[in-house]
Amino acid sequence: MTAAELRDLAIEIAREAGELAQRRRAEGVSIAASKSSLADIVTEADREVEALIRARLSAERPGDGFLGEESGGGDGSTGITWVVDPIDGTVNYASGIPLYAVSIAAVEGGSDPDEWTALAGVVQSPVVGETFSAVRREGAFRNGERLRVAEPGPAGALLATGFGYDPSTHAGDLATVGRVMPIARDLRRGGSAATDLAYVAAGRLDGYFERGLSPWDYAAGALLVQEAGGVFLRPEGPDVARRLNLAGGAELVAELRRRILDAA
Ligand code: IPD
Repeated sequence: MTAAELRDLAIEIAREAGELAQRRRAEGVSIAASKSSLADIVTEADREVEALIRARLSAERPGDGFLGEESGGGDGSTGITWVVDPIDGTVNYASGIPLYAVSIAAVEGGSDPDEWTALAGVVQSPVVGETFSAVRREGAFRNGERLRVAEPGPAGALLATGFGYDPSTHAGDLATVGRVMPIARDLRRGGSAATDLAYVAAGRLDGYFERGLSPWDYAAGALLVQEAGGVFLRPEGPDVARRLNLAGGAELVAELRRRILDAA
């Protein structure tokens, strides 16, 4: 399969998964478990939607690897791995806030983000009915329309952020907000990293920053940003305070990096 065919398969499955999530949401959702912190929750729908995606992928692409937020996984035999967040924005979903997404990426080189190259990515926004997709070297699209990251002018950047699940980072997160506000028009905390990244790709948001994202949160969204002409940074290292994911146009990302990390 070409990368574009992987993208087409991901779109088909992400739409199905989104419909299932919406049906379950309409029936009422309860939190099945809290994971690492109060904000880190899972619902039965997260598990069911991931199981649907996993079953569909293994029927269509037996031998591919799989890495899902809820069920984990590992490398397969074909060199392609699917990196999946069935419901990105579970807190929004569980609370009836419509900003959540199904995120599916096909990557080459295994399930370690240091090793992989993303080939195709889809962020499906079921309630709004938007499909964001990207194919490596072929661009990023929303419902078929080509996307381009914004180049914010002197009026200030519209930024978004997220607060990771590790409570030890929260004081640093608030300090970070203080450092970026002088160059911001405003700041959003949408609650779905995949959607934030899709919105950066679409030029709706100028930039995004969050510490300690997991691979399934950004695998598809990072490709969207890059294919829309932007930059996605994912510094690694033992110090979680410096593991700051950044997305946006190159100039803005450099400025955010300077303000946040150089001052830390
Ligand atoms: C979370 C959301 C949230 C972000 C967290 C993510 P989940 O994903 O994307 O916006 O701040 O870092 O883990 O748990 O809802 O799939």
